[in-house]
Amino acid sequence: MTTWDLSQTRHHILICNGGSCLKRGADEVTCAIRDEISRCGEDQRIHTTRTKCNGRCADACVVIVYPEGSWFKAVTPEIGKAIVREHLLQCTSLLSHISHVYGEERFLRQPGVPIGVTKEKMD
Ligand code: FES
Repeated sequence: MTTWDLSQTRHHILICNGGSCLKRGADEVTCAIRDEISRCGEDQRIHTTRTKCNGRCADACVVIVYPEGSWFKAVTPEIGKAIVREHLLQCTSLLSHISHVYGEERFLRQPGVPIGVTKEKMD
């Protein structure tokens, strides 16, 4: 069991390790992101968490960055490293791999990203 000191943390990366994402290399993505954070000396400022399914399996592998509220799709180990270097450290965006961003008090789907299904209850 771990209890991290988060007082210096600026970003939290949620890395989906649900079934669909694992089939598309989520474990390798997780290791690549964590290695890049360490290589860049950012362990105190960027925290990562493996999650179960985030409900966007068609976008596997899914990576979500807070507090920005950016949802990345089709993340590979190389894209994961670029998220750390470019999106978090140099504040540029990997627009072609972002599926949703937070704005207007909700997540905004980017052009060309499938809507998905509604959450209406099935009888
Ligand atoms: S398994 Fe990753 S979004 Fe469903």
